[in-house]
Amino acid sequence: MKIKKLNQFPKNFLWGASSSAFQVEGAWNEDGKGLSIQDVPKKDIAGWIDRSKVSDYKVASDQYHRYKEDFALMAEMGFKAYRFSIAWTRILPDGVGKVNPLGIKHYHDVIDELLKHNIEPIITLFHFDMPYALEQQGGWSNRDLIVDAFVNYAKILFKEYGHKVKYWLTINEQNMLAMVGDLFGLTNSQESSNRWQNISKINHNILIAQAKVINELHLTNKNAKIGPAPNIAIYYPKTCHPEDVLASKNAQALMHWYYLDVAVRGQYNNIVWKFLEQENALPEFRKDDEQIFKNGKPDFIAFNYYTSGTVEKALDVAVTTRGDQQNMFDVPGMYKATSNDFLNKTKFNWTIDPVGLRTTYRELYDRYQLPLLVTENGLGSPDELTKDFKVHDDYRIEYLKAHILETRKAISDGIPIIGYCPWSAIDLVSGYQGVNKRYGFVYVNRDEFDLKDLRRIRKDSFYWYQEVIKNNGNNIE
Ligand code: BG6
Repeated sequence: MKIKKLNQFPKNFLWGASSSAFQVEGAWNEDGKGLSIQDVPKKDIAGWIDRSKVSDYKVASDQYHRYKEDFALMAEMGFKAYRFSIAWTRILPDGVGKVNPLGIKHYHDVIDELLKHNIEPIITLFHFDMPYALEQQGGWSNRDLIVDAFVNYAKILFKEYGHKVKYWLTINEQNMLAMVGDLFGLTNSQESSNRWQNISKINHNILIAQAKVINELHLTNKNAKIGPAPNIAIYYPKTCHPEDVLASKNAQALMHWYYLDVAVRGQYNNIVWKFLEQENALPEFRKDDEQIFKNGKPDFIAFNYYTSGTVEKALDVAVTTRGDQQNMFDVPGMYKATSNDFLNKTKFNWTIDPVGLRTTYRELYDRYQLPLLVTENGLGSPDELTKDFKVHDDYRIEYLKAHILETRKAISDGIPIIGYCPWSAIDLVSGYQGVNKRYGFVYVNRDEFDLKDLRRIRKDSFYWYQEVIKNNGNNIE
């Protein structure tokens, strides 16, 4: 629909940005922190990134020590919210057992500092950093271990910080974690030679753990709100050939509804169920599982959106090519990933599709009728620092502006969107491609292996975003 008159952004819209603990904090072994899987990364990830060529997370952006300076910069931009994750291993160095008082204190300090600036903390419980001690026992694959461990960890956080924190996110990108976590070294799912059995088991365990944690927060804190944070994007059919259209429906089912239908409706998606049945990979349901799902429904859906995906008719066997979405692999019998001829790409080969964001809002809201929150969106680029210490990142401004405009259009479509937190507040270490894939509004003066002075430098996008927030986004038209 062509919008004749754009609506205003809501009054209390949560303008901010995001990060995750292992990518921004550093201090990997300080103040009693235990090892997470990110502290012992595998050398070769998915056979396409050589870890020895990109920096590790030991220092990252050093936010652990510099959070006051970073939050002052966020306040200067006018942030209303900051989405960050808590490192499980700072709270419980071994994932279970002894609590680390210094870890508890650190996040009290972090939250207090944000609140001092009137910045709402939005806390992700888990962002790809499984305690190493738990991973060695199977991590997300080991239901008897992981569900109780995760609930115990969440209870500690809710008890400590619940009176200060209104917005909680359960698991970052559950769909990527379950689907490609093994390829990216995020999960330990080599148990069966049937890949779908591994995926199905991990995914079911995460869903159970998530529902229990949601229920726990609802029972103990009437003011707080909690939701999942998957990676969601429209999957286009390559053509209007009916088989391509069917493939796009299959892709949406497997990449999105597999997770969200259970989280929001308490039921597995029927297409995915049939697919898993054929793959001999149905999840093992225990006696109370249905009830657990019913008791643990979210208050909103947070989601990460970078690019859309495009698919075509499924093949019978897997091939090695990739589509536009780097995390998307062909699923024989369901869809084949391909590229979209209508979209431009970033320097890192990710497609740029702001209109796809509006369509994604609409799909999500049509299906679930829950408020939506963007917890990641952004453009990774090897920004250049000029001799006079400036970063002219007009390409980032252009990307964000287009996505904010589509967000405004989606609000005008009648969709309740509560906030926009792009990736990332300040530069941090990318998930797989090192420091020089930068996303922040603030430049962190370090290279891949040379830590330099880690000085914070405001990019052009910093001043631009400041203006956007000052105008509550209504200057974007
Ligand atoms: C999301 C993750 O998938 O994408 C982040 O939640 C990640 O952790 C972000 O950093 C961008 O991906 P990348 O690989 O460019 O860092």
